[in-house]
Amino acid sequence: MELADRYGTPLYVYDADTLRTNIRAYVDAFFRHRPVRVAYSVKACPLIGVGAVIMRAGLDASVASLGELLAARRAGFPASRMELHGNAKPDDELASALRARVGRVVIDGLHDIERLGQMVQKRTRPQPVWLRVSPGIAVDTHPHLQTGTLDSKFGVPISTGDALAHAREITGTKGLSLVGLHAHLGAEVRDARPYRELARELVAFANEVRAATRAPIAELGMGGGLAVPLRSHDEVVGLADYARALAEPVRKEGGALRGATIFVEPGRGIVGRAAVALYRVVGTKRVEGLRPFVAVDGGMGDNIRPALYGAQYTAAIAGRANAGATEEVAVAGRFCESGDVLIRSVRLPAARTGDVLVIPGVGAYSLAMASNYNQAPRPAVVLLDKGRTRLIRRRERPEDIWRLERR
Ligand SMILES: Cc1ncc(COP(=O)(O)O)c(C=O)c1O
Repeated sequence: MELADRYGTPLYVYDADTLRTNIRAYVDAFFRHRPVRVAYSVKACPLIGVGAVIMRAGLDASVASLGELLAARRAGFPASRMELHGNAKPDDELASALRARVGRVVIDGLHDIERLGQMVQKRTRPQPVWLRVSPGIAVDTHPHLQTGTLDSKFGVPISTGDALAHAREITGTKGLSLVGLHAHLGAEVRDARPYRELARELVAFANEVRAATRAPIAELGMGGGLAVPLRSHDEVVGLADYARALAEPVRKEGGALRGATIFVEPGRGIVGRAAVALYRVVGTKRVEGLRPFVAVDGGMGDNIRPALYGAQYTAAIAGRANAGATEEVAVAGRFCESGDVLIRSVRLPAARTGDVLVIPGVGAYSLAMASNYNQAPRPAVVLLDKGRTRLIRRRERPEDIWRLERR
Protein backbone atom coordinates (compact mmCIF):
# COMPACT_ATOMS: atom_id res chain seq x y z
CA MET A 1 0.00 0.00 0.00
CA GLU A 2 2.71 2.36 1.11
CA LEU A 3 4.72 1.68 -2.07
CA ALA A 4 1.65 2.21 -4.24
CA ASP A 5 1.02 5.55 -2.53
CA ARG A 6 4.65 6.61 -2.81
CA TYR A 7 5.36 5.61 -6.41
CA GLY A 8 1.90 5.41 -7.95
CA THR A 9 0.41 2.48 -9.84
CA PRO A 10 0.87 0.34 -11.83
CA LEU A 11 4.12 -0.39 -10.03
CA TYR A 12 6.52 -3.30 -10.38
CA VAL A 13 8.55 -4.25 -7.31
CA TYR A 14 11.56 -6.57 -7.70
CA ASP A 15 13.05 -8.23 -4.64
CA ALA A 16 16.84 -8.59 -4.68
CA ASP A 17 16.87 -11.37 -2.08
CA THR A 18 14.55 -13.50 -4.19
CA LEU A 19 16.83 -12.96 -7.19
CA ARG A 20 19.84 -14.09 -5.16
CA THR A 21 17.95 -17.09 -3.74
CA ASN A 22 16.93 -18.18 -7.24
CA ILE A 23 20.48 -17.81 -8.51
CA ARG A 24 21.87 -19.80 -5.59
CA ALA A 25 19.31 -22.55 -6.27
CA TYR A 26 20.54 -22.87 -9.88
CA VAL A 27 24.20 -22.76 -8.95
CA ASP A 28 23.72 -25.33 -6.16
CA ALA A 29 21.64 -27.67 -8.32
CA PHE A 30 24.34 -27.78 -11.00
CA PHE A 31 27.35 -27.74 -8.67
CA ARG A 32 27.82 -31.52 -8.62
CA HIS A 33 27.63 -31.62 -12.43
CA ARG A 34 30.28 -29.00 -13.10
CA PRO A 35 31.81 -27.58 -15.21
CA VAL A 36 28.56 -25.68 -15.66
CA ARG A 37 27.97 -21.99 -16.41
CA VAL A 38 24.67 -20.32 -15.67
CA ALA A 39 23.89 -17.43 -18.02
CA TYR A 40 20.96 -15.19 -17.21
CA SER A 41 18.64 -14.83 -20.19
CA VAL A 42 18.43 -11.05 -20.31
CA LYS A 43 15.31 -11.03 -22.49
CA ALA A 44 13.21 -12.09 -19.49
CA CYS A 45 13.88 -8.74 -17.79
CA PRO A 46 16.45 -6.36 -19.29
CA LEU A 47 16.19 -3.79 -16.49
CA ILE A 48 19.68 -2.60 -15.65
CA GLY A 49 19.00 -2.43 -11.90
CA VAL A 50 17.86 -6.05 -11.90
CA GLY A 51 20.75 -7.17 -14.14
CA ALA A 52 23.25 -5.55 -11.77
CA VAL A 53 22.05 -7.75 -8.89
CA ILE A 54 22.30 -10.84 -11.09
CA MET A 55 25.75 -9.89 -12.41
CA ARG A 56 27.08 -9.36 -8.87
CA ALA A 57 25.87 -12.84 -7.98
CA GLY A 58 28.27 -14.15 -10.63
CA LEU A 59 26.12 -15.25 -13.58
CA ASP A 60 26.98 -14.84 -17.27
CA ALA A 61 24.47 -13.26 -19.65
CA SER A 62 22.63 -14.60 -22.65
CA VAL A 63 21.46 -11.81 -24.98
CA ALA A 64 19.16 -11.79 -27.99
CA SER A 65 20.02 -8.43 -29.55
CA LEU A 66 22.52 -5.59 -29.46
CA GLY A 67 20.11 -3.67 -27.21
CA GLU A 68 20.18 -6.48 -24.68
CA LEU A 69 23.97 -6.70 -24.97
CA LEU A 70 24.29 -2.99 -24.21
CA ALA A 71 21.79 -3.17 -21.34
CA ALA A 72 23.70 -6.13 -19.89
CA ARG A 73 26.96 -4.20 -20.22
CA ARG A 74 25.41 -1.29 -18.35
CA ALA A 75 24.39 -3.75 -15.67
CA GLY A 76 28.08 -4.66 -15.43
CA PHE A 77 28.34 -7.95 -17.36
CA PRO A 78 31.53 -8.01 -19.42
CA ALA A 79 30.80 -8.76 -23.10
CA SER A 80 33.24 -11.68 -22.90
CA ARG A 81 30.75 -13.40 -20.58
CA MET A 82 27.86 -13.09 -23.03
CA GLU A 83 26.38 -15.24 -25.77
CA LEU A 84 24.55 -13.48 -28.59
CA HIS A 85 21.53 -15.30 -30.02
CA GLY A 86 19.07 -14.46 -32.78
CA ASN A 87 17.58 -16.03 -35.89
CA ALA A 88 17.88 -12.75 -37.82
CA LYS A 89 20.68 -10.63 -36.44
CA PRO A 90 20.92 -7.38 -38.39
CA ASP A 91 24.37 -6.59 -39.88
CA ASP A 92 24.99 -3.57 -37.71
CA GLU A 93 24.11 -5.50 -34.55
CA LEU A 94 26.46 -8.33 -35.46
CA ALA A 95 29.26 -5.90 -36.26
CA SER A 96 28.75 -3.96 -33.02
CA ALA A 97 28.65 -7.15 -30.98
CA LEU A 98 31.92 -8.26 -32.54
CA ARG A 99 33.47 -4.88 -31.81
CA ALA A 100 32.30 -5.22 -28.21
CA ARG A 101 34.16 -8.57 -28.13
CA VAL A 102 31.10 -10.63 -27.32
CA GLY A 103 32.12 -13.99 -25.84
CA ARG A 104 30.22 -16.23 -28.24
CA VAL A 105 28.03 -15.66 -31.26
CA VAL A 106 25.34 -18.29 -31.71
CA ILE A 107 25.05 -19.09 -35.41
CA ASP A 108 21.50 -19.69 -36.57
CA GLY A 109 21.81 -20.32 -40.31
CA LEU A 110 24.07 -19.91 -43.34
CA HIS A 111 23.35 -16.18 -43.41
CA ASP A 112 25.17 -15.84 -40.09
CA ILE A 113 28.19 -17.80 -41.29
CA GLU A 114 28.54 -15.75 -44.48
CA ARG A 115 28.20 -12.37 -42.81
CA LEU A 116 30.30 -13.23 -39.78
CA GLY A 117 32.94 -14.71 -42.05
CA GLN A 118 33.26 -11.38 -43.87
CA MET A 119 33.35 -9.39 -40.65
CA VAL A 120 36.08 -11.42 -38.94
CA GLN A 121 38.38 -11.87 -41.95
CA LYS A 122 41.02 -9.54 -40.61
CA ARG A 123 40.94 -10.67 -37.01
CA THR A 124 44.00 -12.29 -35.57
CA ARG A 125 42.11 -14.22 -32.89
CA PRO A 126 39.17 -16.28 -34.16
CA GLN A 127 35.66 -15.47 -32.91
CA PRO A 128 34.26 -18.28 -30.78
CA VAL A 129 30.87 -19.39 -32.09
CA TRP A 130 28.20 -21.92 -31.26
CA LEU A 131 25.85 -23.53 -33.76
CA ARG A 132 22.20 -23.49 -32.73
CA VAL A 133 20.60 -26.76 -33.70
CA SER A 134 17.05 -27.91 -33.81
CA PRO A 135 16.85 -31.29 -32.10
CA GLY A 136 13.29 -31.99 -33.27
CA ILE A 137 11.93 -32.34 -29.74
CA ALA A 138 8.42 -31.10 -28.95
CA VAL A 139 7.62 -30.05 -25.40
CA ASP A 140 4.25 -29.85 -23.76
CA THR A 141 3.68 -26.09 -23.74
CA HIS A 142 1.81 -23.36 -25.63
CA PRO A 143 2.59 -23.57 -29.40
CA HIS A 144 4.03 -20.04 -29.30
CA LEU A 145 6.58 -21.23 -26.75
CA GLN A 146 7.91 -24.23 -28.70
CA THR A 147 11.38 -23.71 -30.17
CA GLY A 148 12.97 -27.17 -30.51
CA THR A 149 10.85 -28.68 -33.29
CA LEU A 150 11.90 -28.92 -36.93
CA ASP A 151 9.13 -26.52 -37.94
CA SER A 152 10.61 -23.69 -35.86
CA LYS A 153 12.27 -20.52 -37.07
CA PHE A 154 15.14 -21.23 -34.68
CA GLY A 155 18.01 -23.64 -35.11
CA VAL A 156 19.39 -25.83 -37.88
CA PRO A 157 17.90 -29.35 -37.94
CA ILE A 158 20.17 -32.21 -36.96
CA SER A 159 18.08 -35.02 -38.47
CA THR A 160 18.16 -33.67 -42.02
CA GLY A 161 21.95 -33.42 -42.13
CA ASP A 162 21.77 -29.62 -42.35
CA ALA A 163 23.38 -29.05 -38.97
CA LEU A 164 26.42 -31.12 -39.92
CA ALA A 165 26.70 -29.24 -43.21
CA HIS A 166 26.59 -25.95 -41.30
CA ALA A 167 29.26 -27.20 -38.89
CA ARG A 168 31.51 -28.02 -41.86
CA GLU A 169 30.87 -24.59 -43.32
CA ILE A 170 31.81 -22.91 -40.04
CA THR A 171 34.99 -24.91 -39.60
CA GLY A 172 35.92 -24.02 -43.18
CA THR A 173 35.48 -20.30 -42.50
CA LYS A 174 38.58 -18.35 -41.57
CA GLY A 175 38.21 -16.37 -38.36
CA LEU A 176 35.50 -18.54 -36.79
CA SER A 177 36.06 -21.18 -34.15
CA LEU A 178 33.24 -23.63 -33.51
CA VAL A 179 33.57 -24.16 -29.76
CA GLY A 180 30.04 -25.21 -28.91
CA LEU A 181 26.54 -26.27 -29.86
CA HIS A 182 23.30 -24.85 -28.59
CA ALA A 183 19.64 -25.79 -28.44
CA HIS A 184 16.63 -24.42 -26.58
CA LEU A 185 13.44 -26.45 -26.40
CA GLY A 186 10.98 -23.73 -25.50
CA ALA A 187 9.45 -22.15 -22.46
CA GLU A 188 7.35 -23.18 -19.47
CA VAL A 189 8.51 -26.79 -19.65
CA ARG A 190 7.12 -28.87 -16.78
CA ASP A 191 8.75 -32.21 -17.45
CA ALA A 192 12.39 -33.32 -17.14
CA ARG A 193 12.22 -35.98 -19.86
CA PRO A 194 12.64 -33.73 -22.90
CA TYR A 195 15.74 -32.20 -21.29
CA ARG A 196 17.34 -35.64 -20.97
CA GLU A 197 16.47 -36.31 -24.60
CA LEU A 198 17.97 -32.95 -25.56
CA ALA A 199 21.22 -33.66 -23.72
CA ARG A 200 21.52 -37.06 -25.43
CA GLU A 201 20.90 -35.57 -28.87
CA LEU A 202 23.29 -32.72 -28.34
CA VAL A 203 26.14 -34.79 -27.00
CA ALA A 204 25.77 -37.40 -29.74
CA PHE A 205 25.75 -34.72 -32.40
CA ALA A 206 28.68 -32.88 -30.82
CA ASN A 207 30.73 -36.07 -30.98
CA GLU A 208 29.73 -36.52 -34.63
CA VAL A 209 30.79 -32.96 -35.47
CA ARG A 210 34.08 -33.33 -33.65
CA ALA A 211 34.84 -36.52 -35.51
CA ALA A 212 33.82 -35.07 -38.87
CA THR A 213 35.41 -31.63 -38.60
CA ARG A 214 37.90 -31.68 -35.69
CA ALA A 215 36.16 -28.59 -34.34
CA PRO A 216 37.24 -27.95 -30.74
CA ILE A 217 33.72 -28.34 -29.34
CA ALA A 218 33.81 -28.27 -25.55
CA GLU A 219 30.66 -26.29 -24.71
CA LEU A 220 27.06 -27.46 -24.75
CA GLY A 221 24.39 -24.76 -24.46
CA MET A 222 21.17 -26.37 -23.30
CA GLY A 223 18.96 -23.27 -23.28
CA GLY A 224 16.49 -22.40 -20.53
CA GLY A 225 12.77 -22.78 -20.33
CA LEU A 226 12.05 -24.51 -17.06
CA ALA A 227 8.63 -23.50 -15.71
CA VAL A 228 8.31 -21.91 -12.29
CA PRO A 229 5.21 -22.24 -10.11
CA LEU A 230 3.16 -19.06 -10.04
CA ARG A 231 0.03 -20.44 -8.37
CA SER A 232 -0.22 -22.74 -5.34
CA HIS A 233 -1.29 -25.75 -7.44
CA ASP A 234 1.24 -25.32 -10.29
CA GLU A 235 3.43 -28.42 -10.63
CA VAL A 236 6.96 -28.02 -11.94
CA VAL A 237 10.20 -30.00 -12.16
CA GLY A 238 12.62 -29.56 -9.27
CA LEU A 239 15.97 -28.02 -10.13
CA ALA A 240 17.91 -31.10 -8.97
CA ASP A 241 15.95 -33.32 -11.40
CA TYR A 242 16.39 -30.79 -14.18
CA ALA A 243 20.15 -30.59 -13.58
CA ARG A 244 20.45 -34.37 -13.53
CA ALA A 245 18.43 -34.72 -16.74
CA LEU A 246 20.77 -32.36 -18.56
CA ALA A 247 24.05 -33.46 -17.05
CA GLU A 248 23.86 -37.25 -16.76
CA PRO A 249 23.83 -38.01 -20.48
CA VAL A 250 26.91 -35.80 -20.88
CA ARG A 251 28.89 -37.02 -17.90
CA LYS A 252 27.97 -40.72 -18.26
CA GLU A 253 27.53 -41.26 -22.00
CA GLY A 254 29.37 -38.26 -23.37
CA GLY A 255 32.53 -39.95 -24.71
CA ALA A 256 34.92 -37.22 -25.78
CA LEU A 257 32.41 -34.64 -24.57
CA ARG A 258 32.26 -35.99 -21.01
CA GLY A 259 34.11 -33.03 -19.58
CA ALA A 260 32.31 -30.41 -21.70
CA THR A 261 31.10 -27.24 -20.02
CA ILE A 262 27.32 -27.24 -19.83
CA PHE A 263 25.67 -23.85 -20.22
CA VAL A 264 22.14 -23.22 -19.01
CA GLU A 265 20.40 -19.91 -19.60
CA PRO A 266 17.39 -19.46 -17.35
CA GLY A 267 15.34 -16.30 -17.58
CA ARG A 268 12.06 -16.85 -15.77
CA GLY A 269 13.77 -19.19 -13.28
CA ILE A 270 15.79 -16.21 -12.02
CA VAL A 271 13.38 -13.29 -12.30
CA GLY A 272 9.87 -14.78 -12.64
CA ARG A 273 9.05 -15.01 -8.96
CA ALA A 274 11.16 -12.03 -7.97
CA ALA A 275 8.56 -9.33 -8.76
CA VAL A 276 5.03 -8.34 -7.93
CA ALA A 277 2.86 -5.86 -9.81
CA LEU A 278 0.69 -3.42 -7.88
CA TYR A 279 -2.43 -2.00 -9.52
CA ARG A 280 -5.26 0.19 -8.26
CA VAL A 281 -8.75 -1.18 -8.59
CA VAL A 282 -10.68 1.30 -10.75
CA GLY A 283 -14.08 -0.34 -10.49
CA THR A 284 -16.04 -3.58 -10.76
CA LYS A 285 -18.45 -4.52 -13.52
CA ARG A 286 -21.26 -6.83 -12.44
CA VAL A 287 -23.73 -8.60 -14.70
CA GLU A 288 -26.37 -10.79 -13.06
CA GLY A 289 -25.36 -14.45 -13.25
CA LEU A 290 -21.85 -13.77 -14.58
CA ARG A 291 -18.44 -13.51 -13.00
CA PRO A 292 -17.65 -9.87 -12.17
CA PHE A 293 -14.75 -8.03 -13.81
CA VAL A 294 -12.51 -6.20 -11.35
CA ALA A 295 -10.88 -3.55 -13.54
CA VAL A 296 -7.40 -2.23 -12.72
CA ASP A 297 -5.23 0.63 -13.96
CA GLY A 298 -2.74 -1.54 -15.89
CA GLY A 299 -2.94 -4.63 -18.08
CA MET A 300 -1.59 -5.77 -21.43
CA GLY A 301 0.54 -2.63 -21.79
CA ASP A 302 2.72 -3.77 -18.90
CA ASN A 303 2.01 -7.50 -19.06
CA ILE A 304 0.84 -8.97 -22.35
CA ARG A 305 1.49 -12.59 -21.40
CA PRO A 306 -2.10 -13.53 -20.49
CA ALA A 307 -3.39 -12.09 -23.79
CA LEU A 308 -0.49 -13.44 -25.86
CA TYR A 309 -0.36 -17.03 -24.71
CA GLY A 310 -2.76 -17.53 -21.87
CA ALA A 311 -0.28 -17.09 -19.00
CA GLN A 312 -1.98 -17.62 -15.67
CA TYR A 313 -1.47 -15.71 -12.44
CA THR A 314 -3.07 -15.35 -9.09
CA ALA A 315 -3.83 -12.13 -7.18
CA ALA A 316 -4.57 -10.71 -3.74
CA ILE A 317 -5.86 -7.43 -2.38
CA ALA A 318 -3.17 -5.64 -0.36
CA GLY A 319 -3.92 -5.53 3.33
CA ARG A 320 -6.70 -8.05 2.96
CA ALA A 321 -4.80 -11.13 1.86
CA ASN A 322 -6.25 -13.20 4.68
CA ALA A 323 -9.79 -11.89 4.56
CA GLY A 324 -12.35 -14.31 3.18
CA ALA A 325 -11.91 -14.67 -0.57
CA THR A 326 -15.61 -14.53 -1.14
CA GLU A 327 -15.94 -13.91 -4.85
CA GLU A 328 -14.67 -15.51 -8.02
CA VAL A 329 -13.76 -12.64 -10.34
CA ALA A 330 -11.82 -11.88 -13.50
CA VAL A 331 -9.17 -9.15 -13.34
CA ALA A 332 -9.60 -6.89 -16.36
CA GLY A 333 -6.92 -4.55 -17.66
CA ARG A 334 -7.51 -0.97 -18.72
CA PHE A 335 -6.51 -1.35 -22.36
CA CYS A 336 -8.99 -1.15 -25.20
CA GLU A 337 -8.92 -4.82 -26.22
CA SER A 338 -11.38 -7.36 -24.91
CA GLY A 339 -8.48 -9.83 -24.67
CA ASP A 340 -6.90 -7.59 -22.06
CA VAL A 341 -7.85 -9.72 -19.08
CA LEU A 342 -4.95 -10.28 -16.69
CA ILE A 343 -6.61 -13.13 -14.81
CA ARG A 344 -9.63 -15.09 -16.04
CA SER A 345 -10.56 -16.50 -12.67
CA VAL A 346 -9.40 -15.81 -9.12
CA ARG A 347 -11.09 -15.75 -5.73
CA LEU A 348 -10.77 -12.40 -3.98
CA PRO A 349 -12.35 -10.52 -1.12
CA ALA A 350 -14.93 -8.04 -2.46
CA ALA A 351 -12.75 -5.47 -4.24
CA ARG A 352 -13.40 -1.77 -3.70
CA THR A 353 -12.38 1.16 -5.88
CA GLY A 354 -8.96 2.36 -4.72
CA ASP A 355 -7.86 -1.04 -3.36
CA VAL A 356 -4.37 -2.15 -4.33
CA LEU A 357 -4.43 -5.42 -6.24
CA VAL A 358 -1.19 -7.41 -6.12
CA ILE A 359 -0.17 -9.94 -8.77
CA PRO A 360 2.89 -11.96 -7.77
CA GLY A 361 5.26 -13.79 -10.11
CA VAL A 362 5.35 -11.13 -12.82
CA GLY A 363 9.12 -10.69 -13.03
CA ALA A 364 9.66 -12.38 -16.40
CA TYR A 365 8.56 -11.29 -19.90
CA SER A 366 6.13 -8.68 -18.56
CA LEU A 367 7.87 -5.29 -18.68
CA ALA A 368 10.32 -6.78 -21.17
CA MET A 369 7.43 -6.82 -23.65
CA ALA A 370 5.70 -3.68 -22.39
CA SER A 371 4.22 -1.22 -24.88
CA ASN A 372 2.64 2.21 -24.99
CA TYR A 373 -0.62 0.87 -26.40
CA ASN A 374 -3.39 3.44 -25.87
CA GLN A 375 -0.52 5.87 -25.25
CA ALA A 376 -0.28 4.59 -21.70
CA PRO A 377 3.02 5.39 -19.98
CA ARG A 378 4.92 2.32 -18.83
CA PRO A 379 5.10 1.73 -15.06
CA ALA A 380 7.77 2.65 -12.57
CA VAL A 381 9.96 -0.13 -11.17
CA VAL A 382 11.31 -0.33 -7.67
CA LEU A 383 14.02 -2.64 -6.31
CA LEU A 384 13.68 -3.83 -2.74
CA ASP A 385 17.10 -4.63 -1.30
CA LYS A 386 18.27 -4.94 2.29
CA GLY A 387 15.04 -3.48 3.63
CA ARG A 388 15.19 -0.43 1.35
CA THR A 389 13.38 0.43 -1.84
CA ARG A 390 15.04 2.19 -4.74
CA LEU A 391 13.48 3.48 -7.94
CA ILE A 392 15.29 1.68 -10.79
CA ARG A 393 13.03 2.95 -13.56
CA ARG A 394 10.85 6.00 -13.26
CA ARG A 395 7.29 6.01 -14.56
CA GLU A 396 7.07 7.24 -18.14
CA ARG A 397 5.42 10.56 -18.78
CA PRO A 398 3.34 11.30 -21.86
CA GLU A 399 6.25 13.47 -23.16
CA ASP A 400 8.51 10.39 -23.03
CA ILE A 401 6.17 8.60 -25.40
CA TRP A 402 6.13 11.44 -27.93
CA ARG A 403 9.74 12.55 -27.66
CA LEU A 404 10.74 10.89 -30.93
CA GLU A 405 7.80 12.15 -32.92
CA ARG A 406 7.41 15.21 -35.16
CA ARG A 407 4.30 16.83 -36.55
C1 LIG B 1 17.66 -19.18 -26.53
C2 LIG B 1 16.94 -18.99 -25.25
N1 LIG B 1 17.53 -19.33 -24.10
C3 LIG B 1 16.95 -19.15 -22.91
C4 LIG B 1 15.67 -18.63 -22.82
C5 LIG B 1 15.07 -18.43 -21.46
O1 LIG B 1 13.92 -19.14 -21.25
P1 LIG B 1 13.20 -19.06 -19.84
O2 LIG B 1 13.07 -17.65 -19.47
O3 LIG B 1 11.89 -19.70 -20.08
O4 LIG B 1 14.07 -19.81 -18.87
C6 LIG B 1 15.00 -18.27 -23.98
C7 LIG B 1 13.64 -17.73 -23.90
O5 LIG B 1 12.85 -17.68 -24.76
C8 LIG B 1 15.66 -18.45 -25.23
O6 LIG B 1 15.06 -18.08 -26.37
